[in-house]
This record gives sequence, C-alpha cells and structure tokens, in this order.
Amino acid sequence: MSTLPDDHKSYHIITYGCQMNENDSERLAGQLRKLGYEETRDMADAAIILLNTCCVRESAEKKIYGKIGELKRLKAANPNLIIGVAGCMAQKDRDKLFKKAAHIDLVLGTHNLHQLGELVEEILQSRERVLAVWEQAEQNAPDVPTIRKNQISAWVPIMYGCNNFCTYCIVPYVRGRERSRPLSDIVGEVRELGGQGFKEITLLGQNVNSYGKDVPGHADFADLLTAVDRDGTIARIRYMTSHPRDMNAKVIAAIRDGNHICEHFHLPVQAGSDAVLARMNRGYTVDYYLNLVRQIRREVPGASLTTDIIVGFPGETEEEFSETLNVIKTVRFDAAYTFLYSQRSGTPAAAMPDQVPPDIKKERLQRLMQAQNDISLELNRRQEGQRVEVLVEGDSKNDANKMMGRTRTNKIVIWEKTGAETVGDLVQVEISSGQTWVLKGHLRQPV
Ligand code: 5AD
Ligand code: SF4
Repeated sequence: MSTLPDDHKSYHIITYGCQMNENDSERLAGQLRKLGYEETRDMADAAIILLNTCCVRESAEKKIYGKIGELKRLKAANPNLIIGVAGCMAQKDRDKLFKKAAHIDLVLGTHNLHQLGELVEEILQSRERVLAVWEQAEQNAPDVPTIRKNQISAWVPIMYGCNNFCTYCIVPYVRGRERSRPLSDIVGEVRELGGQGFKEITLLGQNVNSYGKDVPGHADFADLLTAVDRDGTIARIRYMTSHPRDMNAKVIAAIRDGNHICEHFHLPVQAGSDAVLARMNRGYTVDYYLNLVRQIRREVPGASLTTDIIVGFPGETEEEFSETLNVIKTVRFDAAYTFLYSQRSGTPAAAMPDQVPPDIKKERLQRLMQAQNDISLELNRRQEGQRVEVLVEGDSKNDANKMMGRTRTNKIVIWEKTGAETVGDLVQVEISSGQTWVLKGHLRQPV
C-alpha cells in the first residue's frame, strides 16, 4: 500500500537531451504546478515522476530504459505513484513502452505535452493507464504555464519540428514538420521575461534559420532577431540551433547590427567530406561551409564558432575522416560537440551499407577530440590578459569559493568570489588562464 498520504502532491521530472526538452520540461512542470503539485528533489518522495526523454542516440535511450527499470521498485512500494514517460522516446516507442512496461501510467508524445494536466486528473480519477501519442501536431496547441528552472536565462521556443531529414537523424520523425510560433507571441514572451528580470534568452528551434518559412509571407529569422533585439528588454540574445544551409547574409547582418545578439555562431558542420555530407543529405559542401565561416568572420569579428560533428557515419573511409580533421584545423572552432554515429532504426542511414565498426569509430573520435582540444586550448590561451564581459550565473560547480559565468561568445569563465558580484550581473573579468574548456580570471569591476 501507499507509504505516502493521498493528498501528497509533489512531482519529480528528469530531463534527457537538448534544450528543447529542458524547455518542454518547464512546461510540464507548469501544468503540474497548476494542479497544485510542488517540485521535490527526492524521487522517492514524489507522487508523480516524469521522464522527459530523448532518442537522438542509442546511448540516451539505454540510459532511459535503465531508469524506467529502476522505477519499478518505487511503483511496487507505492502503487499510487504516477509514472509518466514523455517526449521523443515516448513518441518513437509508444507501443513498446505501453505494452511492456506495466508500471508506466502515462506515455505522452511530443505533440501531446500540453495535455499533461488533464491526463493526470483523468488517471487520478479512473486509475487507468493512458497512452497519448498523436502522429501529428494539433494546429494552435494551447499555451501552458511555464515554471522556469533558472531566473537569469530563459529558453524561448520559436518553432517546433524539422523538415530536413538528415539521413542519420530521428528528430523529424518524432517532432514532426516545422511549425513557427507567431512573431508577436515570441516578442511578447521576451518582453515579459525582460520585465521579470531575465538577462538572457535563447531562441530555440531544431533549425531556427528556417523560422517563418512554413507560413507564406511570414517574417523570417533575421526579422525575428531584429525585432527581439530592438525590443531591448534582454541583455543577451542567443539562438539554437542553426543549419549552415539556411544561414544567410541577412541573418549575419542582423547579428552584426544588433546590440544584444551574442557574437556566437553554433553551426553544426557534421562532417568535413563532400561525399559524407551528400550521404547525410545536408545540402551543402565543405567549400560552401568554409565560405560561410569567412563571411561570418568578416562581418562579425571576434565571434566564436562552435560545431557538432558525427564520427563514423556509414561508409566513412579513413580518407573522408581525415577531411573532417582538415576542416576543424582550417576553421579552428572554439569548441566542437563530437558524437559517435548511432544507428537509428527508421532513418535512411541505418539501412546504408558499410556501417563503421565500433572500434574504428571510437578511435577516430579520440583523434578528433584530441585535435579539437588542442585548438580550443590555443584559442582560449589567446584570451589571457584580456578583459571580458561576463554574465554571472552562480557558484562554480566544483568550488564554492569560485563563481562562474559566460562571455558573450559563450565561453565559461571562473573566478575567485569577491562578494561584489551578484547572480545576473554583467561584470568584467580579466582572464589569467585560458584552458581547454574554461577561462579562469579575476573580477575587475561590475560593468
Ligand atoms: N548519431 C550521432 N549523432 C547524432 N546527432 C543527431 N543524430 C545523430 C545520430 N544518429 C547529432 C548531430 C546533431 C546533434 C544534436 O546530435 O550532430 O547536430
Ligand atoms: Fe536532425 Fe538535421 Fe533536423 Fe538537425 S537539421 S534536427 S540534424 S534532421
């Protein structure tokens, strides 16, 4: 029998995956709060446990299935516990989850997240399990309240879904086609966040550069950036994530001319070989990408550049891999997020011949990471002696005597706490040591 009283109303949400999922979890939390539930850090104390899931790589899925297995024990100890699995993996594995994991009460797809509140009420009344996974998004799904995790920096979705169908990627299958939010809704949300004291926003979408393209005559991403910048209520504007094919001169100019748009370009290159890029269906060549980088460097001097790279895409030869190494050495990215190619069933690449053996993939990943770490270190060392503007985010994770924040270029900065800095302040830090992942320095003054 339940060890918790019936009126015990607390929830625990575990989020896997990208920023879009983090933001979705804030919207899930908002709906539970509306029903009177409070967050608890202790899973064993929760009346509702939600896993907001990711399926972009097999490693994420394995972790989540492991966690689902662990939850069985909690459900056995407390049959009143409601366990929900939401998001991308729920969308993909809905039947498997619903049929095989009898301790899961709710499977909630990516297009059904706004239904959480009503479905929890339904489960409480009927004590029946619920499968809510629509194939497609509803037109004009209602807005739901958001409980934000962070009081300084906020995520603002600008569009949902993806139309690109890169051959390795599961996202278009689980998040559906591109749907842009109206510009006025986005600007309204940003203004509200500014009024609440938020200092930074990140505009979110799977491919923000195609914002507005799904509605004829609609404002585009550059227009949106300019509108949010002109509104002037937010000190730092960021966006995630870009597709190089859709990044254009108008967007670069908007970033150059904006006052608040951060000088950081995250442009996932994925591979440095034209043949691999073609097999990936990325829609650009290495030459095109390098030209884009030159254009960015010319228009926005001092901007940082980061990327995503997949190693071991089907058929990747040693020669093709070495072209990727060449590209990172040519571009000199500030940082690269590197991934082992993961076969996602249902995607075209999963059925391609010549899958690369795991040991070769791992060995290439090591070489790629080493090359990139050397570059990151070199670039970060160049910052030594410079003063940078830092948004104070909080205590350093590893040392309570230190503070951490980020530059406009999105580099992490750590410095000795002086007591003069407050979370949310913009301060000046003089960099004394540039390292691979962080810059270390001393507080000079509030800006
Ligand atoms: N295997 C490995 N990495 C992948 N990504 C997307 N799909 C896969 C996959 N099947 C990476 C891409 C993308 C990032 C978010 O995840 O690099 O940019
Ligand atoms: Fe996946 Fe490509 Fe869409 Fe990014 S742009 S979500 S990698 S299909």
